[in-house]
Amino acid sequence: MKITFLLNGETVELVEADPTATLLDWLREDRGLTGTKEGCNEGDCGACTVAVSDADGTRALNACILFLPQLHGKAVRTVEGLGGSHPVQQAMVTHHGSQCGFCTPGFVMSMVAGHAEGATDHDTQLAGNLCRCTGYAPIIRAARAVESAPKPDWLATDRAFISPEILRGEAAGRGAEPPSSSAPVAQEAMAGGAKPPSSPASSDELAALYAAHPDATLVAGATDVGLWVTKQLRGLPKVIFLSGCADLKEIEVTDTQVRLGAMVDMNRMRDTVAPLHPSYGEMIRRYASVQVRNAATVGGNIANGSPIGDNPPALIALGATLQLRRGDTRRDLPLEAFFLDYGKQDRAPGEFVEAVSFPRQPDRLKCYKLSKRFDQDISAVCGCFNITVEGGSVTAARIAFGGMAGIPKRARAVEAALTGQPWTQEVVNAALPEFESDFTPMSDMRASAAYRMETAKAMLRRYFAEDQGLLANVLEVRA
Ligand SMILES: Cc1cc2nc3c(=O)[nH]c(=O)nc-3n(C[C@H](O)[C@H](O)[C@H](O)COP(=O)(O)OP(=O)(O)OC[C@H]3O[C@@H](n4cnc5c(N)ncnc54)[C@H](O)[C@@H]3O)c2cc1C
Ligand code: FES
Ligand code: FES
Repeated sequence: MKITFLLNGETVELVEADPTATLLDWLREDRGLTGTKEGCNEGDCGACTVAVSDADGTRALNACILFLPQLHGKAVRTVEGLGGSHPVQQAMVTHHGSQCGFCTPGFVMSMVAGHAEGATDHDTQLAGNLCRCTGYAPIIRAARAVESAPKPDWLATDRAFISPEILRGEAAGRGAEPPSSSAPVAQEAMAGGAKPPSSPASSDELAALYAAHPDATLVAGATDVGLWVTKQLRGLPKVIFLSGCADLKEIEVTDTQVRLGAMVDMNRMRDTVAPLHPSYGEMIRRYASVQVRNAATVGGNIANGSPIGDNPPALIALGATLQLRRGDTRRDLPLEAFFLDYGKQDRAPGEFVEAVSFPRQPDRLKCYKLSKRFDQDISAVCGCFNITVEGGSVTAARIAFGGMAGIPKRARAVEAALTGQPWTQEVVNAALPEFESDFTPMSDMRASAAYRMETAKAMLRRYFAEDQGLLANVLEVRA
């Protein structure tokens, strides 16, 4: 089975591609397309940004942590494919948006994707692109200058591309055994005899394949797994790509609940939760960058079991339920029960995250993401508070933290100290020492244990202050 995609308007078919070859390596080493730069090779700098289109639109993605099978049926555009004639390229020249030029192709491709989607929030669009010499003001001026410029002719062709295999109802490597990733990549027939990548087209196919190969590595957005390959140089002997499972991308919002398939990416997640719980939406705006959010999935963010993932504390505070599946067997569990210990989750071999859901409720949620940089930074502490107050008293409290323990964890002693009490500053102050019963945080490069404890307490005080109508967010304070 081939991987087929459009590259700068030309159809590319790869047979027996190494499933963990990155688009960046393939572009530079196999195709000689060196306009796409390698900076960090871990999704942080945006030098490798490309624009990827399909029927859903055009997205900026980091080629350094994008595996070739994730591109099946899509259209990739690199800086070479702009032909020097895209309006953002001229605008970068006119507005002096480049000096050494190393970052420029990445910026241009982020701007091209933003322009294609009609985006005007340029600070957000470009937060994942690092420039060490020009300064951002001229680049932002260039982005603004072309907001209403006509879209290039190739855009419609890129978005309309659907690979011949998909038209025939076949996904890349569908039904095949999970592959070995030992063979080198080349165009057309590949040397080395690696099996094609395995990309089930639905959760049913995934369930059958994974139950039969529980030792395979699942790849969702690859924003974690990509780094295992590029930074830890790990070989992944068997991989199963989830990107073809359309039903895992479904979002269902009813009067009673919100259900998110495991493959919902962070930008779609933000669009879904922001109208219901604006503070959650705002936190996701600060989750990594546009490029990473376009790839990273909610299922991956939960399944990786990270103690500093941003979604688990917010979802736990909302009372979320996790749906797991192994073969035909499904089970639901409260999300907090999934995280057993550092690096240990309640997931059996061959079992995968199918969806997560949370009940519709009045919005009382506040999410506080504390990191050293405002944009594009992993949280040192992420505190999420959902406290219900009726008739002046606390009737329910769900408080969950990332970064305070080896797992995302509820502050049950604090919750107990608040519940049933009047919602007053005195009660809040009296509950603060309970954080020390709930958590024994660690010191690491992101924060010391003492700082983590202090900020967790400050977050509860901030929640109370905001609830009293005081502005506590420095971005909201006006002179
Ligand atoms: C530059 C950068 C910035 C980042 N910033 C943040 C941040 O601000 N906040 C944050 O929380 N995270 C951040 N991350 C981490 C990462 O984006 C998240 O953990 C992400 O959600 C992982 O999702 P994914 O789809 O990319 O997972 P993948 O990398 O594909 O997989 C992650 C793990 O989950 C498993 N897995 C994936 N899907 C399933 C499933 N459905 N069922 C069972 N197992 C599954 C995989 O096998 C793997 O073990 C950042 C990463 C990068 C590279
Ligand atoms: S090389 Fe830095 S994000 Fe890809
Ligand atoms: S122009 Fe030199 S890094 Fe941006």
